[in-house]
Amino acid sequence: MSEIIDGNAVAKSIHQELTAELASLKYDRPPCVAFIRVGEDPASVSYVKKKEKVAGEIGITSRLHILPESTPQDELNALIDSLNADDSVDAVLIQAPLPKQLNERDTFNRVRADKDVDGFSNANLGFLCQEDSRAFVACTPAGIIELLKRSNVETKGKKAVVIGRSLIVGKPMALLLMQKGMDATVTVCHSRSENMKEICSQADILIVAVGRPNTVSADMVKDGACVIDVGINRVPSSETKSGYRLVGDVDFANVAPKCSKITPVPGGVGPMTVAMLMKNTVSAYKRHMAK
Ligand code: GUN
Repeated sequence: MSEIIDGNAVAKSIHQELTAELASLKYDRPPCVAFIRVGEDPASVSYVKKKEKVAGEIGITSRLHILPESTPQDELNALIDSLNADDSVDAVLIQAPLPKQLNERDTFNRVRADKDVDGFSNANLGFLCQEDSRAFVACTPAGIIELLKRSNVETKGKKAVVIGRSLIVGKPMALLLMQKGMDATVTVCHSRSENMKEICSQADILIVAVGRPNTVSADMVKDGACVIDVGINRVPSSETKSGYRLVGDVDFANVAPKCSKITPVPGGVGPMTVAMLMKNTVSAYKRHMAK
């Protein structure tokens, strides 16, 4: 019988820990995170709304900057520069994906490293590579590490396979799993990989971050593996008011019976991304206030 890892419950524990920590701090203002959303992508609208809501519940103030879809790079840069320079802002988050005219890499690199709570800048990715404790680690992979630890999943010496090589999930995920202390043997697969089925079926821990439903079927999973599904895909549904439902990248119904543990979608990795953003924001705040 596989265990369903309850991301909502773990995220809630982290929210409670952060609320208690903030209550114990005696600084003269609460933490402040600035969100930038460019355009009206429905998923981004919903993610940013959720982040604002959770921040408020924990006692973190937030500012939302909504820019039009057609915003040129220099206008976005000017906003980032002003938030970088603003002493009342501890953390800056630019919701991805950005419209085509904007360069995501340059945009992420422009955020001051000590406010880059997404961990997407070259500075923070460099710190992560060097296993430097100053790193802000990207929230989704950081959340997955937290889920593995709190669910007592052994990683030391185990075979971990990450499907996906994105900056937001795949790359930092692989770095975290191979770090000292986690000690996994890591393989990264992507759209050009050959023998995916053979590689995946050797994994003790399989992390799937592709963004396509049913990428992982039961024949790709070893008996007793721990499967972490990062996908959040909207598929049409006549049974919901919104007209869609959320599914992951894994064929959950057929894969779950083979696993020791598996994350559901929704309610697995998603809430952990938000929880780790809050954790990073509290860390940025404490560093700023201590200066
Ligand atoms: N888009 C998908 N995931 C993320 C995330 O963790 N941070 C930001 N800023 N954008 C995202």
